[in-house]
Amino acid sequence: MGSYSVRRGGWRGLIEEYRQFLPVSESTPVISLLEGNTPLIESRNLAREWCPNLRVLFKYEGLNPTGSFKDRGMTMAISKAAERGVRATLCASTGNTSASAAAYSARAGMMSIVLIPEGKIALGKLAQALTYGARTLQVDGNFDDCLRIVREITDNYPIELLNSLNPMRMEGQKTASFEVCDVLGEPPDYHLLPVGNAGNITAYWWGYREYRERGIVDRTPRMLGFQAAGAAPLVEGRPVARPETVATAIRIGNPARWDDAMAAVRDSGGGVWAVTDDEILEAYGELARLEGIFVEPASAASVAGLKKLLAEGFFGREKATVVLTVTGHGLKDPDTAVRIARQPEQVPADTEAVVRLLEL
Ligand code: F0G
Repeated sequence: MGSYSVRRGGWRGLIEEYRQFLPVSESTPVISLLEGNTPLIESRNLAREWCPNLRVLFKYEGLNPTGSFKDRGMTMAISKAAERGVRATLCASTGNTSASAAAYSARAGMMSIVLIPEGKIALGKLAQALTYGARTLQVDGNFDDCLRIVREITDNYPIELLNSLNPMRMEGQKTASFEVCDVLGEPPDYHLLPVGNAGNITAYWWGYREYRERGIVDRTPRMLGFQAAGAAPLVEGRPVARPETVATAIRIGNPARWDDAMAAVRDSGGGVWAVTDDEILEAYGELARLEGIFVEPASAASVAGLKKLLAEGFFGREKATVVLTVTGHGLKDPDTAVRIARQPEQVPADTEAVVRLLEL
C-alpha cells in the first residue's frame, strides 16, 4: 500500500458536475443532496437467461438521496426557485415527487405542500413527505385531479409548481442520459423506461439529443416506454378516466408531458407499450432474485417491457446494448413487497428445529 494516498473530493451533485449543460449561473444558490452519479449495473444473470446476445444494464435511480430519479429534477427546480426568492412550493404526486419536493424544499428552507391521491401512495413515500415536514394533503381523487388543482393554484398564487411541467425539472433529469453516455463511452442502442406523467422519458431524450448536438456522441438510442395496462393513455391514444395499477407511481390517466413523450418516441424511432400488473410483478420479483436489485413495482415496468419485447422478437438477432432505467427503490413500497413475496417460516428458538426445517 506504500504508494497509495487518499483520494480527495467526491461527486459534487449533478449541478456542479454538469454545470456547463444547465441553465445556472454563479448567482444560482445550489441546493443539493449530492444526487446523481447512480450506478449503471450490468446484468449478470437476467441477460444470460433471457437474452444472451444483448448487453443489458440497469440505471439504478433508486439510489438517489430520496430513493428515486425525482431528485435530479428537484435539485434544479429548487435551486432556480431559490434564486428567485421563492418561499413555498407545491406539487401533485403519486408519491416520489412529493418525497423529493419535501426534502429539497426543507433543505432550501421553503415551505412544502404536496397533494397526493388518498390511499394510493406507497407507505415509504408517505413516511418521507411527512417526516421531511411537508404539509401533506390527501385528496379524495386520483393523481390527475391533484395535478389539475395544483395547476390552478400555481396559476393564481406565488407558489412554485414542482411537477415536471416545470422546465427546470426536465433540465435536471436529462443528466441521467449524460451519465449513461459518460460511463459507456457511447449511447446505448435502446433505452427502456417506465412512463407515468411522461416527463422522464422526455428528459432522457432531450439529454441524449443534447449530447449528440454538442458532438459528444454521434448518435442517439431508440426510446422505449412502458405503461401499466390499466393506466396506458399513450398506448391507447386517449386519456384514461379511472387509471388502476399495482404500480401506483405510474397510476396516471392524462400525462402532462404527453406530446413531448410521443415526440421523443417518434423522433428516436422507439415506441410505447403496455405491460400488465402480473407482468410487472413477475419482473419485479425476477429482478430482485436474479440480480439482487430491489425496485418499486413501477420501476419493474421497464424490466417487464424488456421481457415482452424479447418474446415478440423485437430485437432480432442483433447484438445490442440495452439500458433500463429502474426509477425508484424497492423500500418505497414495503407493503407490496411483503404481500407478494414468499412468507417467512416460523421456527422455535432451537438449533435442532432449525436444522430439521432446513433439511440439512
Ligand atoms: N417510476 C417511478 C418510481 C415514478 O415515481 C414515476 C413518476 C415514474 C416512474 C414515471 O415517470 O412521470 O416522468 O413518466 N412519479 C410521479 C410522482 C408521477 O408523482 O412521483 P414520469
